[in-house]
Amino acid sequence: MLQKIESVKEAVINRTVLSPAELEQFRNEYLSKKGILNQLFEDFKAVPAEEKKSVGIALNELKTLLHEKFEALKLQFSQEQELSNKTDLTRPASPFNWGGRHPINVVRKEIIDIFSRLGYVVADGPEIEDDWHVFSALNFPEEHPARDMQDTFFINHRPDIILRTHTSSIQVRVMETMKPPIRVICPGRVFRNEAISARAHCIFHQIEGLYIDKNVSFADLKQNLLVFARELFGEKTQIRLRPSYFPFTEPSAEMDVSCSICGGKGCNVCKYTGWLEILGCGMVDPNVFKSVGIDPVIYSGFAFGMGIERIVMLKYQIKDLRHFFENDLRFLEQFQSQF
Ligand code: DAH
Repeated sequence: MLQKIESVKEAVINRTVLSPAELEQFRNEYLSKKGILNQLFEDFKAVPAEEKKSVGIALNELKTLLHEKFEALKLQFSQEQELSNKTDLTRPASPFNWGGRHPINVVRKEIIDIFSRLGYVVADGPEIEDDWHVFSALNFPEEHPARDMQDTFFINHRPDIILRTHTSSIQVRVMETMKPPIRVICPGRVFRNEAISARAHCIFHQIEGLYIDKNVSFADLKQNLLVFARELFGEKTQIRLRPSYFPFTEPSAEMDVSCSICGGKGCNVCKYTGWLEILGCGMVDPNVFKSVGIDPVIYSGFAFGMGIERIVMLKYQIKDLRHFFENDLRFLEQFQSQF
C-alpha cells in the first residue's frame, strides 16, 4: 500500500496541467468521489492495524499535496483569465490631462526669471506682519497721513499685528538679516480692506525688488527697469518715469511702459495715452537705512514694487480682476504654460 501511495505521489508531482480543461481532468482523476484519493482511503480500511500509522501519514501527505497543487493551479488560471479579460495591450494609452498653471503664477515666474538673470535672488516674508515691518521701518511715522493710503486689516483688533498691505515689508526683513550687497526679488500675497470690484480686490499679489550696494544710482534703477520691461513686453518697449511719492523712497517715481497693445499710438487699453502705468520705484530713503542699521553714507540702493494682477491684465487684456479668484475653468484653461 505504501508503495502504491508513493507511486501516485510521484505521478502527481510529475503531472503537467496546461489549461483549465486539463485541470478539470486532473481533479476528476484524483479528487472526485470516484477518484484515486478516495479509492486509496477505501483501501486504507483494509490495512492491518500495525501498518495503519505509517500508511495513514503517507496517505495524508498525498492528500495535502493533491489539494495544494489543485488550488495553486486554479488560482493561476483564474488570474490569467482575469488579465486577458481586462487588458487589451493593443489599446492606445489614454491621454493624460496635465491642467495648466494659474495666470498669476505664470507671470510671477516670468518676472522672477527676468530678475534672476540680472542677479537677483528670491526672498520671502510672513503675510501676518507687525506694524514695524509694514510701516514704521519704512518711514511711515505714527499718524502719518500716508498710512491712510492703504486700508489695513488688523488681527484681533490689535493695532500692531496686521496683514501686510504691501511686499515692501519683505525689504525690511531682508535688510535686517543680510549685509549689502543685496539684490532680492520678493513675490507675495498682500491684503487691503477694499470692496471687491472689477478693478480692486482685498487679496492680490505684488513683487518687490531691492538693490543695495556702494554707488548705486538712479541710472542703475532706470537701466534695470528698462531691461525688465523689454524682456516682459517685447524689445520695442519704451519706459517713462514720472515723479511720485512713497515714504520709503526719495526720490520716488512711477513707471509707465509704452502700450504693448497699440505700440504707443493710443487705444482703449491705454486710454489713448500710449502709456500704461505698471510700477512704483525710487531710491531707498536714508531713514529706511537708518531703521535697519545700514549706513546711508556708505550704501545707496533702489527699490521697486508692482502688482502682478495688473501686469497679467495688461499682458492678456483681462478686463475683470475677479476672474483670478473665481476658479472658473473656462477662464483658467486659456492659460497653458510650459513649466
Ligand atoms: N509698496 C508700494 C505699494 O504697495 C509699491 C512700491 C512703490 C514699492 C515704490 C517700492 C517702491 O519698493 O520703491 O503701493
